[in-house]
Amino acid sequence: MKQTAITKRLAGLGGAKWEVYLKAKELVAEGHDIVEMTIGEPDVAAPSELIEAGVQSLRNGRTTYSNGRGEAGLRAALAEHYSNQTGQLISDNQVLCFPGTQTALFAVLMGVAEAGCEVLIGDPMYATYEGVVRASGADVVPVPLRPENGFRISARDIAERITPRTSAILLTTPHNPTGSILTRADIEEIGALALEHDLWIISDEVYAELVFDGAEFVSPLSDPKLAERVIVVSSVSKSHAAPGFRSGWCIGPEAFTDALLPFSETMLFGNQPFIADMTELAIREGSSVAAGMASRYAARAERLYERLSAETKLKVHRPQAGMFAMIEVSATGMNGDEYALHLLERGKVAVMPGSSFGDTVGNWVRVALTVDEESFAAALDRITAHAKSLEVELT
Ligand SMILES: Cc1ncc(COP(=O)(O)O)c(C=O)c1O
Repeated sequence: MKQTAITKRLAGLGGAKWEVYLKAKELVAEGHDIVEMTIGEPDVAAPSELIEAGVQSLRNGRTTYSNGRGEAGLRAALAEHYSNQTGQLISDNQVLCFPGTQTALFAVLMGVAEAGCEVLIGDPMYATYEGVVRASGADVVPVPLRPENGFRISARDIAERITPRTSAILLTTPHNPTGSILTRADIEEIGALALEHDLWIISDEVYAELVFDGAEFVSPLSDPKLAERVIVVSSVSKSHAAPGFRSGWCIGPEAFTDALLPFSETMLFGNQPFIADMTELAIREGSSVAAGMASRYAARAERLYERLSAETKLKVHRPQAGMFAMIEVSATGMNGDEYALHLLERGKVAVMPGSSFGDTVGNWVRVALTVDEESFAAALDRITAHAKSLEVELT
C-alpha cells in the first residue's frame, strides 16, 4: 500500500503507551477484580440541563449546516466568558469552534508549525501532543519538568532549547499528568521569551475549572503584552463532564483565527448547531459539576498522599488541579513500567506508567482520581499492601 508522509510520521505512535491499560481491560474481561486508574473520565454524568437543551435544540430543527467559525451565539458566549476571566476584551472573531480540544490542537498546530519547525513542550506531556506536532511536520522538543520545581515548566529550561527553528511553546495549565499550575511569574518569564524570539504560545486549559482549593489559575491570555501571540484551546469535556459532546474551541488573535478559518472549513465544514446550543448554555450558566469534581479529586489526592507517605516509601506529588496524581516508585527498585505491570498483576490496580507521558518521569506512575469512593478505598489498601510486600521482598 502506498503511504503518505503524514501517515508515516504518525505510524507507531502510542502503541506501547497503552500496554498496562490494554492488559487491565483484558483482565477485567476475564472476570478479574481490577481497580482501573489508568484513564481519567469525569466521575459524574454531564448535567441534565445540558442534555435537555440538546434535545430541545434537535426538536427545534437545529440540524442544519453551521459555518466554519462556529455558531454566533456560542462564539459570543465564549468571547464574554474569556473577557471576564482574563480582563482583556476578547471579540467573537477571536473564537473558532472545534469538536473538542483535540481537534482544536490539531488545527492550531497546523496554523503555527510545519516541517522544519520545532515546538517546545514540557516533558511529561499529554499523550496526544506528539501526534499533533508530528502531523504538522514539525518536531517536538521536550523541556524537562522538574519535580523540585513542582513540575512547572521553567523559562530557563525553555530558553536553553530555543533555536531559530522554534515556532511555538505548548503550555498545559493546569497540567496533565502532573496537576501543576503555572504562576503569573512563570507566565511573565515565558512570555518575555516568546516576545524576544517571536514565538507562539499555545495554552491548553482544558482543566481550568478543576482547580483545587488554595490554588489559582492564570491564563497567558490575561497578559495584554502577549495578545498577539497567545492561542488558548479548551472544551467542555472536563469542566462539564461532557467529553462525548466533543465540543471545544480556540481563542487567538483575530489575524490568526482569520488565517486558520479556511483550514477549519476544509476540515469540518462547520460543526453541529445543537451541540453549539448545549455548549452555549454550559458557558453562559457556568458548570454545576466542576466544583464537586475538584473537591472530590483534591480529597482523594490528599488521602493518597497521606496514606502512602505514612505507610510506604512511595512518594506522591500533590496535584493542584485536574484528575490525576503522580507517584514516584523508585524505592521499590523498579521503574514506572515495571512497577505498573507488577502492581497490576500482584496488586490488582491498573495505573499508567510515567513513560507514557515522557522520559523525565520514567520512575513515576500516574493515578486517575476519578474512580468511585469504594474503588478508591480498595485501591489505597491494595497499593499500600503491595508496596509493603515489596519492601519485605527487598530486605
Ligand atoms: C491536557 C489535555 N488536553 C486535551 C485533552 C482532550 O480534550 P478534549 O476532550 O476536549 O478533546 C485532554 C483529555 O484528557 C487533556 O488531558
